[in-house]
Amino acid sequence: MHALRSLLVNGGEISPIEHLRNTEETLLSDLSALIVLGAIFGRAAPSGDAGLAGLRADLPPSAVAVLTRAGVIGADGGVTARFAALWQARGPALLARIDFILKATRDLIDHGDALLADPARFMQRASVFAMFDYSRGFEPGPAARADTERWTRYVAALSDLEGPPLSEAIAALVAPTRPLRILEIGGNIGAFAAHLIRRLPVADYTILDIPQVCAIGADHARAAGVDVRFRPGDMHRMAWSDGGVARPDCIVLKSVLHDWPLDRARQVLERALEAVVPGGQVVIAERCAFRAENLGLPAASDAANMVFAPFYRDASVYKGLLHALAPSIKVDVTPVVLDMRWFVMVATRS
Ligand SMILES: C[S@@+](CC[C@H](N)C(=O)[O-])C[C@H]1O[C@@H](n2cnc3c(N)ncnc32)[C@H](O)[C@@H]1O
Repeated sequence: MHALRSLLVNGGEISPIEHLRNTEETLLSDLSALIVLGAIFGRAAPSGDAGLAGLRADLPPSAVAVLTRAGVIGADGGVTARFAALWQARGPALLARIDFILKATRDLIDHGDALLADPARFMQRASVFAMFDYSRGFEPGPAARADTERWTRYVAALSDLEGPPLSEAIAALVAPTRPLRILEIGGNIGAFAAHLIRRLPVADYTILDIPQVCAIGADHARAAGVDVRFRPGDMHRMAWSDGGVARPDCIVLKSVLHDWPLDRARQVLERALEAVVPGGQVVIAERCAFRAENLGLPAASDAANMVFAPFYRDASVYKGLLHALAPSIKVDVTPVVLDMRWFVMVATRS
């Protein structure tokens, strides 16, 4: 097992979520399996056990061979218990990830030269960036909602796996002494919030995101019983707390800052430091810069991160911005190893 991934093991014990994550990452590291599963499931959007029927139907020997090697099909020709468990826990999330990895792979093959020469050109050409069209999330109507839902589902599929280890690292650094008023900027449909709420004492949890994302998130949170409020709008333009609500003790920015050029990221951090109460904390969680020492074993799923590779930054970049904004600010950083190396940073305002 790779050195990075072995860090996931706590005292020799692997938790059920880590086990699930390892099973999923192993499967998604296999390009042949991704292609076969993508071809089987690509035609329909199956959910629940109905989706597994495609794996039991007549498949050509080549597909059976690939899926058997990948541990999806067992010696008896049926779906393995391991895959069935993964499917039950993660079916739609798994399909969202397979779809994205295959799209990203196609983009890298077709436009990899642009990624190397000019990331902005790559962004214009790549289908994954067409899918991540935030501007659609500001438009009303069912078509804009459907377009927005497609990528929020993928983001939530990742955050559901990233949530437990990142929340644990955040809770250790935040070390709360009382229930917190948390404001998560760009918190998407609340997948990460659902995990953080289990790790931190929470007085109030608000997610600020773009309008269609908040509408989808409100429905999602209601169905999942997650106690969060959504505040729709543009994080760059709107006030971060509404008049009637006290300022947050903790502002969370998870996988948000890499979306923005450095000057915009600096403005977001400036707003966070202004909005949080004195003594409060600003939390940043991001993948580290896409450098060899931060990567795991070679895997087909790398493609999903490689399309964003030019945008990931090391913790030192954000630490520098924070110190430039508030020279005496206390900043704590801890590494977390998931699909690649991440960092969690907690900046405490004086
Ligand atoms: C890469 S996603 C990360 C989502 C979430 N933090 C997670 O890790 O699961 C970036 C998030 O920022 C939100 N976002 C983008 N532009 C925004 C804006 N101008 N105002 C508010 N939210 C925005 C997106 O809708 C999306 O939910």
